[in-house]
Amino acid sequence: MIKKHMGMCNKMNTHPHNKDFVQTTSFGTFGDKYVIVMVALPARGKSHIARKLAWYLQFVHGADAKVFNLGDYRRDYYPNASVDMFDPNNEKGVKMRENCAERAMEDMKVYLKQNHSKGVVALFDATNSTKARRQWIFDNVSKKAKVIFIESIINNPSIERENIMSKLENSDYQGKEVHEALADFQQRVNFYKSVYEPIDDEHQVWIKVFNAGAKIILNNIRGYLLGKIATYVSCLRINKQRIYLTRHGQSEYNCDNRIGGDSGLTNNGMVYAQQLADFVEEKGLAKPEIKARLWTSTLRRTAETIQFFPSNIVQGWQVLRPKIWPCLDEIHAGVLDGLTYEQIEKHFPNEFALRKADKVSYRYPGGESYLDLIRRLEPVFLEIESSNVPIIIVAHNAVLRIIYSYLKQIPRQEAVRLEFRLNCLREIEPRTQTCSAKMFCLDEDCN
Ligand code: SIN
Repeated sequence: MIKKHMGMCNKMNTHPHNKDFVQTTSFGTFGDKYVIVMVALPARGKSHIARKLAWYLQFVHGADAKVFNLGDYRRDYYPNASVDMFDPNNEKGVKMRENCAERAMEDMKVYLKQNHSKGVVALFDATNSTKARRQWIFDNVSKKAKVIFIESIINNPSIERENIMSKLENSDYQGKEVHEALADFQQRVNFYKSVYEPIDDEHQVWIKVFNAGAKIILNNIRGYLLGKIATYVSCLRINKQRIYLTRHGQSEYNCDNRIGGDSGLTNNGMVYAQQLADFVEEKGLAKPEIKARLWTSTLRRTAETIQFFPSNIVQGWQVLRPKIWPCLDEIHAGVLDGLTYEQIEKHFPNEFALRKADKVSYRYPGGESYLDLIRRLEPVFLEIESSNVPIIIVAHNAVLRIIYSYLKQIPRQEAVRLEFRLNCLREIEPRTQTCSAKMFCLDEDCN
């Protein structure tokens, strides 16, 4: 019947669609070049925004993206420079800083010129605190790329204090007493404040972020990618809580090595469900004042895994009330759902070979690819970025590979090969530069 229909279609289809059937869902910047120019006083979270944004554009959108951090150039060229270098009245210091900016600009231009088939984003990460400096950047790159300014303004004293404290961990202050480092850094901030000019040019494209996303102003932000950038930046918070990632307990399909499906837990799975509930209590995550969030997929095995979690109601607040996300469901194996990999290799050798050749973009017939999964998980990434409470995510192998890799900045090619064992839980602690991760195996057999 299908053959007959296909034969008829082939006769009628005189102009067939001859592109690859599978769209990769990874469009980069649609071939366009962008330069994102950060603007802020020191310790306003601009490097955090630049690094996170670069990673988001790479991992979620498949764009080439690179950060050019002026502080790194300065540390490289003038490793022992004193705070006087930042004094706007110190001619020698001004010259040294201009020198660093010129070198970073040269490297950025070389990067933009390279062959980037899906487009490219370069992020110029520096204070860029005067109109003259911003005009210089614009004049240098606006013929080659679209230029967007992102200004981070922090006037909330507690956010400012925390940012300054995190700056003291940086290599500029290694081996210095805290009070000494603090005074030095404050002096640097004051030098920049004395010449700082906020962005106000109505003709330029810019995003102003106040107090880590509490308020955002957009100017000339139009189109898909700029809209995505604005949304992402508005979600970013600086001080973050821990995130716990775990698979469900062992399911009936796990026992048979079958993929997908919607089976329930085995007895071993139930044991893990109890161990996980105990872990959550021991870690204090069930305390109402912590307001930890619990996210699961819609599949039976995750619901059964959280069945022993505390769920008492305190002053109207239900502790660990599960939020059930369809986008946390396991990658859909389409017509291969419910088979073992041995069966797939035997009965669908072509599919087996295609998946082996390119696990990132291989799409199960009638199902999904890892690239589809990355796209489907974007709302989860944004919710994680905007949260400031601990989050426990009980989900599935492929889904957790992607969430973990997004958080730890692990490239897609490696992400799809990560091992996410049953009965283990990963605790991710966001840090200023990156995230640290710790593994807890709740079942001693799982080693
Ligand atoms: C730095 O040297 O740390 C940054 C220089 C700048 O952004 O102006």
